Amino acid sequence: MNTDTSDPRLLGRAVRRIVFDVDELAARVRELGAEITAAYPEGDLLVLGLLKGSFIFLSDLVREIRRPLQVDFLVASSYGAETVSSGAVRLVYDPESTLEGKHILLVEDIVDSGRTLKRLVALLATRHPQSLEICALLHKHLATEADVSTKFVGFDAPNEFLVGYGLDHAEDFRHIPFIASLQ
Ligand code: IMP
Ligand code: MG
Repeated sequence: MNTDTSDPRLLGRAVRRIVFDVDELAARVRELGAEITAAYPEGDLLVLGLLKGSFIFLSDLVREIRRPLQVDFLVASSYGAETVSSGAVRLVYDPESTLEGKHILLVEDIVDSGRTLKRLVALLATRHPQSLEICALLHKHLATEADVSTKFVGFDAPNEFLVGYGLDHAEDFRHIPFIASLQ
């Protein structure tokens, strides 16, 4: 894997280190798929991807889940002053699917403070799903303000800014197939 500054995908930035390579990601996603398959022996499962960061993880993950499921997405507004004071989150795109009575698995790229997820969980819970769990590829375990419980976690993440496999820096680098921290 070419990770030097001549890799055209990196916009001239140098990778400080590869944190999770392609093979590690694939192996862990396979395990998560098996865990999720076992955790839902029955009922309707709706996998809800939080855009945009989850798009690559979600597409790999659902192909490792060996039971019927449906996929939808949601887009939450980034926090503004208003959102913080109201404690609410605004959905820019709201899933078309009904949540009522279904097992909902919310898929997120990385949990940092956990604020985004805490608000989303509160909002989605008002729609009476049968269950509501979170699957995050990465967890920084810095959740001081919000201890939102993530049932499925791919990896503990180091406290570095990570890009690739869906994660961006100012919208760049989402398409890099591994997870790296940049110089
Ligand atoms: P939280 O609400 O503080 O948990 O923020 C989570 C969101 O912040 C994630 O969905 C990412 O979009 C973004 N984020 C947090 N840490 C990183 C990182 O290391 N790289 C890229 N995005 C990150
Ligand atoms: Mg982001």
